[in-house]
Amino acid sequence: MENPTTIGEQGRSGDPCILVIFGASGDLTKRKLLPALYNLARKKLLPANFALIGIALDTIGEEAFRARVQEDLRQFGGAPETCEFCDWLVQRLYYLAGDFRDTNVYTQLGALLTSLDEKHDTHGKYFYYLATLPQFFAEIIKQLGAARLTDESNGEWRRVVIEKPFGNDLESACALNHEIRQVLAERQIYRIDHYLGKETVQNILVFRFSNGIFEPIWNRRYIDHVQITVAESLGVEQRGGYYDHAGALRDMVPNHILQLVTLTAMEPPISFQADAVRDEQSKILHAIQHLAPEDVLSRAVRGQYGEGQEDGSPVPAYNAEPKVSRDSHTETFVALKLSIDNWRWADVPFYIRTGKRLAKRATEVAIQFRRAPFVLFRETPVDHLTPNLLVLHIQPDEGISLRFGAKIPGPIVRVGSVDMDFQYTDYFGSEASTGYERLLYDCMVGDATLFQRADMVEAGWSVVQPILDVWKALPPRNFPNYTAGSWGPKEADDLVRRDGRTWHQS
Ligand code: BG6
Repeated sequence: MENPTTIGEQGRSGDPCILVIFGASGDLTKRKLLPALYNLARKKLLPANFALIGIALDTIGEEAFRARVQEDLRQFGGAPETCEFCDWLVQRLYYLAGDFRDTNVYTQLGALLTSLDEKHDTHGKYFYYLATLPQFFAEIIKQLGAARLTDESNGEWRRVVIEKPFGNDLESACALNHEIRQVLAERQIYRIDHYLGKETVQNILVFRFSNGIFEPIWNRRYIDHVQITVAESLGVEQRGGYYDHAGALRDMVPNHILQLVTLTAMEPPISFQADAVRDEQSKILHAIQHLAPEDVLSRAVRGQYGEGQEDGSPVPAYNAEPKVSRDSHTETFVALKLSIDNWRWADVPFYIRTGKRLAKRATEVAIQFRRAPFVLFRETPVDHLTPNLLVLHIQPDEGISLRFGAKIPGPIVRVGSVDMDFQYTDYFGSEASTGYERLLYDCMVGDATLFQRADMVEAGWSVVQPILDVWKALPPRNFPNYTAGSWGPKEADDLVRRDGRTWHQS
């Protein structure tokens, strides 16, 4: 068969390389990574010289692994029954069964890499994707190092991609950074946050820095406040075992939500080089005010869903979900009022909220501008004028809308608010994407812009640590405190209402 991967329309293909996935039989691999590789192959962005080694505990043979991948590509990647790109990919698949703690696995992996490197002419370039439980991250990296599989002294790159969660508090994140830095240089580490793989998240930068009209008003003089909502309508599904130890704060805030905060708030970088962008993001993370214990009580709200409805059907309370403790104190909702202590954002609150089993799925950044300053329209008092609101709709219904005042037709001057809407699909159509395509591709071309540096991860945890500490010391007494299918606990509304504001509802 002719090799379908040459030069893609969208750029050069990735460097020749071998991808090793630890955790090859897990959900992430079959739902996201394999479909993403398939999409990259279709767009001709995978290198022609490419191979993939899956490692997992399952003692299935290579042929069975290949057959399973073919099936997964159909089920989760939308691949057709006859699929040249799937065949191409599957011909480059190899499998190694073993325990990640077993040194022999790394000896076998080393031998397999050497032979596949020769067979597929991958120039000694390898990247390892840790799609495993987090307790294996440090162990796998240590073993890879001991087997000299991360050694770049021959001049070829060796990279390691680490999934979330990166630590479960500040101390463990620092410890993990310390351990992996014993083996790897920072430039070899790609800490993934899948939010940065989303087109609409990347578009925040493009929107801000490729349009001359917004940046001049993107500051405390014109912006009243910012709201970031990451609402999910689903509950914890089958992930109760993990989630009951994590909770909404750890699961969403130091990573996904703070990414949205930094992209919205950062200064223009001096270039789009990885470190130029990350330096600016890092400055924002360091400028977010750490809450004093008494502020946690007034500026942080937690909630847990009780039973309720989703799409008209009854759904159980969080504490009745599988693998969740019946008297769980874990929060499934969090709302915070954050302050960024710098010249651009002083006195502009950033309200953030996220939760499971909320009224609908919606991720958005809403920027509310200050009101027009004085009453000009007698029939519409100034406090009835709706302020301009710019909403970056991250998902679903990806788009951007701008609300402004317009004259309501009629003999007297009355002002109503209208929305100007841009929908991605209207302009660019919709394309099958898992959100991992760009991230995997960037690993193959060595662009770390969308990955977290050690200092960013630690700064993110420093923001939430004071809240974790207070919440641990003062367990909640009123859980469950919101109905599944609602917009969260009443205290979240009070948080913004106290400041004379309301949450923007998409
Ligand atoms: C994950 C969290 O990182 O992100 C999940 O662990 C959450 O709890 C998910 O549901 C949300 O991602 P997305 O892409 O569906 O918004």
